[in-house]
Amino acid sequence: MKTLGLAGLGTMGSGIAQIFAEKGYMVIAVEPADELLQKGMKRISSSLDRKVQKGKMTEDEKKQVMERITFTTSLQELSKADLFIEAVSENYEIKAKLLKELDGICKPEIIFATNTSSISITKLAANTKRADKFIGMHFFNPVPVMKLVEVVRGIATNDETVHTVIELAKQLEKSPIEVNDFPGFISNRILMPMINEAIFSYMEGVATAEAIDSVMKLGMNHPMGPLELADFIGLDVCLDILEVLYDGFRDPKYRPCPVLKKLVNAGFLGRKSGRGFYNYSA
Ligand code: 3HC
Repeated sequence: MKTLGLAGLGTMGSGIAQIFAEKGYMVIAVEPADELLQKGMKRISSSLDRKVQKGKMTEDEKKQVMERITFTTSLQELSKADLFIEAVSENYEIKAKLLKELDGICKPEIIFATNTSSISITKLAANTKRADKFIGMHFFNPVPVMKLVEVVRGIATNDETVHTVIELAKQLEKSPIEVNDFPGFISNRILMPMINEAIFSYMEGVATAEAIDSVMKLGMNHPMGPLELADFIGLDVCLDILEVLYDGFRDPKYRPCPVLKKLVNAGFLGRKSGRGFYNYSA
């Protein structure tokens, strides 16, 4: 594998492009509009700047990493890829349409991986003719920092695909953990109810947002409190995942807190929009 084909250059896609390019892979990154490509390019460049400032990378090395990434609006370019990762919005319809189209463009023998946070791998795979080579490769934000890659096996994923993706994750200096395809997998099945419970506690006035976060940071040694983390992940993403859990299990314990819905409806999506549980405008 020499060339990664990547769809989506949002927070996760940019991080994925960066770590592959840092390890010497060529990356072909696709977004539907130039503006989105520019934003992705800027995100990767700033993330690499952190390393340069800390003396972990030279300006010249940064330039080489950036040069390994091709930014394009043409899906046809992905016909050159030896592996494809999907990192577009957490929306089944958008992912399904893209996967159907790319199944006909990409080489038939290559693995299709999805970075979905919670949508069924089996259901996504059914949009392609390569369900045996279809797998979840779930990275965590910030991708260059977080060690975990949740490797999610769909009902038809074959052993060779699982083995290849696990070896690839190790090569990227990540720690792959294999799990089965269930709503929210393991990570978000456990993380999101905790975040949701923190939002219910906030709604019920048990404590302020700062107090809730401080309890979890000081008492549980979490690097971020749950409300701060929700803002970091994106409140729209948290809501989407909770809806998948609620729909998948039909269990009221996963019902999204009304305050989460209200904030998302207001466009308060957390850090990326400048406001969520906290205000980031400054
Ligand atoms: N991009 C690249 N590098 C980053 C970064 C970013 N956005 N943010 C921080 N870093 C690097 C820093 O450069 C620093 O690197 P160094 O150790 O080599 O110097 C290191 O991370 C630590 O950063 P800081 O000292 O600036 O800040 P903190 O110590 O506060 O750490 C944090 C920042 C790593 C984000 C930490 O707060 C953390 O671990 N938070 C929790 C993150 C988390 O839980 N992520 C998972 C979210 S769930 C998810 O992604 C799944 C999805 O499906 C929802």
